[in-house]
Amino acid sequence: MKEDIKQIIYSEEVIKEKVDELGKRITEDFSGKDPIVIGVLKGANVFLSDLIRKISIPLIVDFIDVSSYGLSTETSGVVKINKDLDFSIEDKDILIVEDIIDSGLTLEYLLKNLKSRNPKTIRICSLLDKPERRRVDIKVDYIGFQIPDEFIVGYGIDYAEKYRNLPYIASLKEEVYR
Ligand code: IMP
Ligand code: MG
Repeated sequence: MKEDIKQIIYSEEVIKEKVDELGKRITEDFSGKDPIVIGVLKGANVFLSDLIRKISIPLIVDFIDVSSYGLSTETSGVVKINKDLDFSIEDKDILIVEDIIDSGLTLEYLLKNLKSRNPKTIRICSLLDKPERRRVDIKVDYIGFQIPDEFIVGYGIDYAEKYRNLPYIASLKEEVYR
C-alpha cells in the first residue's frame, strides 16, 4: 500500500485537530436541535465516526450510499442510490457529512433528493473540497481542507476500493491510476 503513495498531505494529527475544530463549530451551531447526521457511504464513514465523537449534543446517525464513480477517478454524472436512509427526515435538521466535494454533481443530486423529503434545514460538512473542479454551485457550510486538483486517498477515501484504511490523507502515484 505504502509504495503507491506519492505524498502524505494531511497527517493523522492534523486531521484530528481539524475534526476537533469542526465538531466544536457544529456543536455550537446545532445547540438546542437534535440533528440527523447523514454519512455518505462509503468514503465519509471514517470521518463521520471521528466527527460525531466531537459533537456534544444529542444526534441520530443515518447513512445513504450513492455511487457516481464506479471504479474510475472521474465522475460519470450518473448518481444511483444503493442504500437509502433508514429514517424519515421530514421536519428534521439535517447535517450531510461527505468525504470530498469534487465536481459537486453527487451532492447536487443528493440535495435535490433530500430536499424533496421536506427536512426543516439541511447543512453540509465535507472534510475535503476541490474548488477548482466544481461544476455546480453548492454552498458548503463546513469544510475541513481545500485541496488542489489532485487525486487523493486515505482516511476512508478510496481508489478502486483500496487505501480506505490509511490513517492519513495522501496523494497517489500517477502510475497507480493511469
Ligand atoms: P463529485 O460528484 O464529483 O463531487 O464527487 C464526489 C465523490 O467523488 C466524493 O464523495 C468521493 O467519493 C469521490 N472523489 C472525488 N475526488 C476524489 C479523490 O481525489 N479521491 C477519491 N475519491 C474522490
Ligand atoms: Mg463520497
